[in-house]
Amino acid sequence: MGASTGIGKALAINYADEEVLLGLASRRIDLLETIKEECKSLNCKTFIYKTDVRNKSECEQSAKNFIEVAGGIDILIANSGVGSSDDIFSGTSEKINRVLETNILGVTNTILPFLPRMKEQKSGTVVVVSSVASFIPIPHKGGYSASKVAVKRLFDSWRPILIENGIKAVSICPGFIDTPMTEKILFKPFLKDTNSASKAFIKAIEASKKTYIYPWQMRLFVKTFNILPQFFYDWIINKSKSSIAKYDKN
Ligand SMILES: NC(=O)c1ccc[n+]([C@@H]2O[C@H](COP(=O)([O-])OP(=O)(O)OC[C@H]3O[C@@H](n4cnc5c(N)ncnc54)[C@H](OP(=O)(O)O)[C@@H]3O)[C@@H](O)[C@H]2O)c1
Repeated sequence: MGASTGIGKALAINYADEEVLLGLASRRIDLLETIKEECKSLNCKTFIYKTDVRNKSECEQSAKNFIEVAGGIDILIANSGVGSSDDIFSGTSEKINRVLETNILGVTNTILPFLPRMKEQKSGTVVVVSSVASFIPIPHKGGYSASKVAVKRLFDSWRPILIENGIKAVSICPGFIDTPMTEKILFKPFLKDTNSASKAFIKAIEASKKTYIYPWQMRLFVKTFNILPQFFYDWIINKSKSSIAKYDKN
């Protein structure tokens, strides 16, 4: 889910080969059509679904349809996400709520329709694309940071129950990846391209990593950041707030 651009698109292309049945979903069906053509040229059978993750019944319908045509599901990636700023002085919760709805309820809407089938199969891997923002809050983006904590925590809570049923759960936590979501951010340390990132994510999924922080520099940064005393932590957040450009995509 969320395969039309950025990380999702790169994952689709890197997964595409003749042995794979690919299901791609997002709102922009025209972009999915183009990716489908690219996958077809790699001999990969690809199905596309116009789906808004905020719409529970659309997600259920797409899941049902894919399970029918594919005869099951091996790997499900909940990648859809938006990254607008909170706009906390706008007088309305509209913007922040859209982030929370897409990034949290969008994940539960994406994953839950597939779980009965995975339970029946006693196999499968569910993947959520969280973020380094689940460890380090981003100024102006409290909704985004909170949503990424929430989905990581959902996975931590579900993992033991899923494992009992033969299902693996992987949380991917990228740092800065060069995608439309980050194009207006000014300060992007350890920036990676989508192709290298998606290859690393596929390896992490194959290895069933529980929580995978990428790239390695961010892994070190997260570890260091989380042992800092509160005042130092606050100082860094405060310093970084001017370098995070406000942007209102999606
Ligand atoms: N880029 C980074 O540095 C970075 C870092 C950490 C985490 N992430 C996470 O990685 C994921 C992918 O982001 P990206 O960087 O690749 O950004 P992107 O290029 O903007 O891609 C976002 C994807 O989410 C889909 N999406 C958004 N709202 C949706 C909705 N309501 N229903 C269905 N699909 C929806 C978009 O498709 P449509 O618009 O066609 O629906 C698009 O395919 C996000 O969850 C993001 O939070 C990104």
